[in-house]
Amino acid sequence: MNMAALIFYSSSAAAAASPSSILFKHNSSSTTGRCCSSSSPGLAIPLASNLHSAAGADHHIKKAFRPPLQVEEQVTHSMPAEKVEMFKSLEDWAEKHVLTLLKPVEKSWQPQDFLPEPSSQGFLEEVEELRKRAMEIPDAYYVCLVGDMITEEALPTYQTMLNSFDGVRDETGASLSSWAIWTRAWTAEENRHGDLLRHYLYLSGRVHMRQIEKTIQYLIGCGMYIKTENCPYRGFIYTSFQERATFISHSNTARHAKQHGDMKLAQICGTIAADEKRHEAAYTRIVEKLFQIDPDGAVIAFADMMKKKIVMPAHLMFDGRDGRLFHHFSAVAQRLGIYTAKDYADIMEFFVGKWKVEGLVGLSGEGKKAQEFLCSLAPRFRKLEKRAEERAKQQALPTMVRFSWIFDREVQL
Ligand SMILES: [Fe+2]
Ligand SMILES: [Fe+2]
Repeated sequence: MNMAALIFYSSSAAAAASPSSILFKHNSSSTTGRCCSSSSPGLAIPLASNLHSAAGADHHIKKAFRPPLQVEEQVTHSMPAEKVEMFKSLEDWAEKHVLTLLKPVEKSWQPQDFLPEPSSQGFLEEVEELRKRAMEIPDAYYVCLVGDMITEEALPTYQTMLNSFDGVRDETGASLSSWAIWTRAWTAEENRHGDLLRHYLYLSGRVHMRQIEKTIQYLIGCGMYIKTENCPYRGFIYTSFQERATFISHSNTARHAKQHGDMKLAQICGTIAADEKRHEAAYTRIVEKLFQIDPDGAVIAFADMMKKKIVMPAHLMFDGRDGRLFHHFSAVAQRLGIYTAKDYADIMEFFVGKWKVEGLVGLSGEGKKAQEFLCSLAPRFRKLEKRAEERAKQQALPTMVRFSWIFDREVQL
């Protein structure tokens, strides 16, 4: 899940966005006629007419369904065909080094392990206790938890994304290739995250479930565009980054829940965070292997993803009202320290070190440029963020935004 797209939407770093920045088309920003547009550099959200407001002569024509947020410019299949064969030749390696990081189902936790047992006598009492604990937690925290949960719930999009990568996709839906086995089992493990958070939030009584469910339906309908170009190099760099980002985010929601005295919620978030960590290890290992066998290809792909910036999976989030919902959710997460621009820079720096980018030798001219770019990236990014932070501090009044997820109560950004 997460919010480094706040980088993309709101920070000064957006000014450095590459020419391939995503162009969004906003089809129906509001069912009530209220619109939000962004003035961020590199981001264009042209507003079009409401989906349901047919006008003029074509009022009798039933309009086709369109997702409310669309990405206009997209790049596909950039990896040369011969590299597809390389991924096929890595099947045995993936079986030994990646599939071993999956947990057998019988040893896996299930959402029910952390929730009141509906068949037990004490069910209502347990729910009552859960709701009492939930009363102590502030609205801003719930905005973050709901955003995290919605991100997890858009899992069909992520499985689709993994199956868009050339050379590693699940060709049949039940393929026995190591890559396909990983993708299905990874999805099955991830599926528990949204389930658990959703059940908890439902029982808490603190959130507007219908608005949340609408947001999930919109988000899955919108999909995501993460600029991986069907290329598994870019794809696994993205997933490494993303799993680390979700690990950080869920760890921080666990820490905050503990501070608010809810040890059970802390345990829920901490358990999910541990899964993300294991998934991060798997994707990181794949990229490490790519750096070993094709350092030039790997370093160029890494630099390309960092130039384009990691777009967060829920960047097309919409609740039917707020055209800048993802930006607002990200801003709350940044303020609370659940996931911040500093985390984004830390992750970049971590992978530059982990994949030993500085020590790569024998690179092509393009590879060397990519290496130089990556090695100077985190400090430059931090400088830009610091300036953006200082500018934000100079703002006289805090911005308050209403979130439909919490019954339109206001939360400070
Ligand atoms: Fe997850
Ligand atoms: Fe994950």
